Amino acid sequence: MSAQEVDELIAQAAIKAKQETDDEPEPGLTEEVEWPVKASLGRGLEGAISNTTKIGYVNGAKGWLIYRGYNCFDLAEKSSFEETAYLLLFGKLPTQSELSGFNDKLIAYRNIPDEVYQLLNTLPTDKSHPMSALATAVSALGNFDDNADEATVENETEIAIKLIAQMATLAGAIARVRNGEKPVRPNPALSHAGNFLYMMTGKTPDALSERIMDAALILHADHGMNASTFTTMVVNSSLSDMYSSVVAGIGSLKGSLHGGANEAVLYDLEEIGSPENVKSWFAEARAQKRKVMGFGHRVYKAYDPRARILGPIAELVASKDPETKNLYATAVALEEQVCSVLGAEKKIFPNVDFYSGIVYKAMGIEPAMFTPIFAVSRISGWTARALEYLADNRLFRPRAIYVGPVKQDYESIEER
Ligand code: ACO
Repeated sequence: MSAQEVDELIAQAAIKAKQETDDEPEPGLTEEVEWPVKASLGRGLEGAISNTTKIGYVNGAKGWLIYRGYNCFDLAEKSSFEETAYLLLFGKLPTQSELSGFNDKLIAYRNIPDEVYQLLNTLPTDKSHPMSALATAVSALGNFDDNADEATVENETEIAIKLIAQMATLAGAIARVRNGEKPVRPNPALSHAGNFLYMMTGKTPDALSERIMDAALILHADHGMNASTFTTMVVNSSLSDMYSSVVAGIGSLKGSLHGGANEAVLYDLEEIGSPENVKSWFAEARAQKRKVMGFGHRVYKAYDPRARILGPIAELVASKDPETKNLYATAVALEEQVCSVLGAEKKIFPNVDFYSGIVYKAMGIEPAMFTPIFAVSRISGWTARALEYLADNRLFRPRAIYVGPVKQDYESIEER
């Protein structure tokens, strides 16, 4: 297996996606707007328009994911996470010298204060979820940054770059501390993806693992007004600080309806055990009205383009790893089963979280770390969008419809 095989798989996934969809954007959601916007709202802010953006676009009907005009297939095949993060933050692909300058900054910012490593050692990381440790650690980083509270675009851009660099250092350290191992300090000679794997495992990764992690980080970098991005932006819109905003984003991403689904998928697949058990397991899940993790999406009503790429990568890595081979076969059977029942009727297909866990598992990463990997990537989208919004900030402040009583006579406690 070579890193080039991954490029080929992504190119093939792009061809397949192109054959199944056309090149015309879905009408709506791509034009300039006049405020106030009229929209039909569903629960959970479905259909709500919060802002305009030039950062990224998800076309749910066609299964497109675009960052700054570039489709995710091209970026996953040809770009690097560093270049993609630059693109999201600064709105253009960098020149060679811009990219070198950005890389130098990321490398310089990879180091975190010793006190934060010490703090991680005091947390019960063997029992708590690594996303909780990540939130604590990001919050701690804010305490050590003298400039944390200056809510200007310029200052917060610098903090965004720091956080993009340091999220990987924190996640790497948490992966080790929770297993009783000493954190590994960043290696400035490695790429962002390579160094992240190195800090998690303590070993310099091979080219294939580095390439796969890089593609995974690119694919998870941004995704519209998803729950964690929105959460980050809401907190930042009060002119809080970027660290606090990102801590909130981490809390949101942790949930199993959002980023936490990648971990939950793996446990489901392990519970199912083998492809033969899929039918009965799914029938039981349906009877109990349980959601199948890794399927469905608020926006995609077509196949998630990220799953189009991660599926074949999962197949590639699983074919060489006996432990993961059965998980992959079970996943394929589950996809067939869920799509045959819910695909046409409810437009439910695998989402990004369905195959990512198999990929990470085959790379030797424990399931609890899957969602932190997501955060290591999504920090770029969170901060890019929070910064874009900050440039023309307005406090987020929706309303709820009050359906309780409006006139109650106060009864003293003795009378109740
Ligand atoms: N399994 C079974 N049925 C599903 C699933 C699923 N995974 N997802 C949606 N449905 C069904 C619902 O039961 C509902 O059916 P009904 O109309 O008969 O009541 C219908 O599809 C609509 O579902 P909602 O929950 O209203 O859709 P919503 O837009 O709120 O949910 C969500 C989107 C949360 C992602 C949902 O599909 C889900 O829970 N999926 C499983 C968790 C998951 O994989 N999350 C990761 C999403 S990607 C990401 O955040 C990175």
